[in-house]
Amino acid sequence: MAARLSRLFTEEPLNFCHMGPARHAANLAEALCKRLGEPLSICLFCSSGAEAVEGALKIARLATGRTAFLSCEGAYHGLSLGTLSVMGEEHMAKSVGPLLADCQRVPFGDIEAARQALATERFAAFLVEPIQCEGGIMLPPPGYLAEVQRLCRAHGTLMVLDEVQTGFGRTGRMFAFQDEGFVPDVVTLAKSLSGAIAPIGATITSAAINKRAYGSMHNFELPFSTFGGNAYSCAVGLETLQVLEEEGLAANSKVRGEQLLRGLRERLEGHPLIRAIRGPGLLVGIEFGPTDQGILNRLCPRLVEMVLRGAFGLWVSVQLLERGFLCATATHRWDILRLEPPLTVTEERVETAINMVAEVLWQYRSVTSILRDVTRRLGRQWMRHWRF
Ligand SMILES: Cc1ncc(COP(=O)(O)O)c(C=O)c1O
Repeated sequence: MAARLSRLFTEEPLNFCHMGPARHAANLAEALCKRLGEPLSICLFCSSGAEAVEGALKIARLATGRTAFLSCEGAYHGLSLGTLSVMGEEHMAKSVGPLLADCQRVPFGDIEAARQALATERFAAFLVEPIQCEGGIMLPPPGYLAEVQRLCRAHGTLMVLDEVQTGFGRTGRMFAFQDEGFVPDVVTLAKSLSGAIAPIGATITSAAINKRAYGSMHNFELPFSTFGGNAYSCAVGLETLQVLEEEGLAANSKVRGEQLLRGLRERLEGHPLIRAIRGPGLLVGIEFGPTDQGILNRLCPRLVEMVLRGAFGLWVSVQLLERGFLCATATHRWDILRLEPPLTVTEERVETAINMVAEVLWQYRSVTSILRDVTRRLGRQWMRHWRF
């Protein structure tokens, strides 16, 4: 990838500012729309995931003439004021309020709740992730997303599918919604769009919706920003797409993801603090929680809950980091450890990861063993600090 990019630098100048007709942006837009499929044919570039979702919110208001937004509990769409308004966890957004008025949430995956909310016909858009990543690798029931799109069409709401984290092979498919039998009205992309090398995001929709939103002299400029669609980021995006396809990385994600899921389930079977291990492709979540009625669970359920919900995931991720294994808890759920290895990961590396995670997690069979280890390690650090 680095060699390919240096060729780009020497062959032609790559400006960072969007200054009129842009060849790289046009090429990337064409390549993305081709892969997303009809009728998604308009691609508006920006520089981050939050901006891509902001773009979708604007399109939805302008195209429908409505102002309200529907999103899901547990959702994560970014940290700008608009995206915080549709965030699925209120505590994160509260301190910077007031946010956009008239935003409502429904439980993710609950089609009846979505049906009732959409039937009010007051929402400009329903924002939904194909899989909630920061919400804890939550998968909707089969057919949920297609039914949401059908309901949105029936009630004049735009379905905005946020693929910022799931896009570009992460789930074992190029895009998570593909093969699900529907096409969303608006798709948002970022993160892996440039292989995490350059800042870029995209809001993609149909020509008809784009015309309704931006097809007039007084608002055609609304989607633009200085760096949106800059030549450098778009050239990197095109190279990323080529590398993804030439190296079959979505297929690798599927196969290695199955290996990771199978291996973790086998090695951690019967673990008393693991409730579930789930995920498609290289997007795997390990959910912690007591699985038995141990004495501590019965005596102090709140303490057990606090340790597992509040600190255990972080404790485990720090220990894996110490061994060179990068991972994190989900933003909204610290009781869920998120494993998202690079799409280039090999069979051997996945095997190493399985062994490492299993080894760390089997050290803790009860909340008492976690508390004992935390006290021991913190005590050691304290002693070192005070040079005892
Ligand atoms: C689904 C989803 N949407 C939007 C965003 C926001 O992207 P960014 O951090 O680039 O603004 C994220 C970031 O994690 C995300 O996971």
